[in-house]
Amino acid sequence: MPPTAPPTASHPAGVAGHRAAWNTVMAGFLPALPDLEQAIMTTAERLTGPPARILDLGGGPGLLAERLATRWPSARVTLADLDPVLLALAAATVPPSVTVVEADLTDPSWPTRTGTGYHLVTAVMTVHYLDPAAIRCLYAAIRRILHPGGLLVVADVMPDDGLPAMMRALATPADPSGDSWSQWWAVLAAVPEFGDLLRRRAEIFRDRPPAEFTPAVSWHAAAARAAGFTEAGALWRHGRHAALAAR
Ligand SMILES: C[S@@+](CC[C@H](N)C(=O)[O-])C[C@H]1O[C@@H](n2cnc3c(N)ncnc32)[C@H](O)[C@@H]1O
Repeated sequence: MPPTAPPTASHPAGVAGHRAAWNTVMAGFLPALPDLEQAIMTTAERLTGPPARILDLGGGPGLLAERLATRWPSARVTLADLDPVLLALAAATVPPSVTVVEADLTDPSWPTRTGTGYHLVTAVMTVHYLDPAAIRCLYAAIRRILHPGGLLVVADVMPDDGLPAMMRALATPADPSGDSWSQWWAVLAAVPEFGDLLRRRAEIFRDRPPAEFTPAVSWHAAAARAAGFTEAGALWRHGRHAALAAR
């Protein structure tokens, strides 16, 4: 099913404002986000050349998808997510080279919605919503939809036991309580046009709280190898946040 038509399409400035505020919230959790995105783009270019087809899993309101599309204007980018509110914000603003798709990553049939043959697959701050079994299934599915030689990058909280204290200090988010996250949703809740989407969202997430499963990079690398990736390891780290690269 395609995402619901964006409720605020008639108010593009409003949509842009919500997306800009989302960017600020994400930067609160991960101030080094631009550095991570740069690492993803540089690595992909070096390993695969400019990727022709890109998939961003749990892409939310589409900020990374848009930046990937800007970096590689001839690429076709697909954003997949489950949240009707975030899908609507993405669909309202992403450039024409980005396709927005509703897909539940815990449903094994999700690749039928995204298609196959991707040169780069990203999942940024998405997999902590999933439990271990779902992450293992996800990696196996991604392996099947990657173009030969294609690259997977998964970034999330991935603390490592051996992290020195000076690195752990970097881990403290600017907003450890998550207040800015709640505030962002509260602002949206006050916009009547989002009412139906927010109700749908509440139904979808009622029985699926984020698993908050945040193992070390080594766990993700082992899960990726078990799923058929031949190479897997840390691509990037900032405090407790890290990115796994696998191909
Ligand atoms: C913290 S947000 C990160 C969004 C985006 N990657 C970013 O960095 O701005 C986590 C995202 O994962 C999505 N998500 C969580 N569980 C999902 C699932 N089962 N299927 C698809 N998307 C999911 C949420 O809807 C949300 O957009």
